[in-house]
Amino acid sequence: AAPTDYQAENALISQGVVESNHAGFTGSGFVNFDNLVGSYVEWTVQSPTAGPADVTLRYANGTTAARPLDFTVNGVAGAVGITFPGTGAWTNWQTKTVRLSLVAGSNKIRARATTADGGPNADKLTVNPTSDDTQPPS
Ligand code: GCU
Repeated sequence: AAPTDYQAENALISQGVVESNHAGFTGSGFVNFDNLVGSYVEWTVQSPTAGPADVTLRYANGTTAARPLDFTVNGVAGAVGITFPGTGAWTNWQTKTVRLSLVAGSNKIRARATTADGGPNADKLTVNPTSDDTQPPS
């Protein structure tokens, strides 16, 4: 299946706000996680089949301190302690990819901040099923 984009501003947001004051985002804005442990963005992603997917977060971090996130799928730990380093400016957007196991049907992919800085600004999630692709995440 082709990669599918899911905008952060359309996801479920707990302790964060949608903003649009830093250029370069896609869609209508991005999510600014509140600066605390536990703020999260949760995307609901449909998958026709169970299996691995490369999941790419487009993000910006205008600080020099990495902002780690834990990724869960339907509440199950998927990729923990993923670091999102500084991108040089809040208007510089980069991507980071993790591989997650999806179930057939509805998948709630949650990215949760694990430090008091909160998460990086989150633009979108791109989900690329890998059933016919054995390349590791980049
Ligand atoms: C600044 C910036 C926000 C960012 C925040 C943060 O306020 O404008 O976009 O989310 O810093 O440190 O999280």
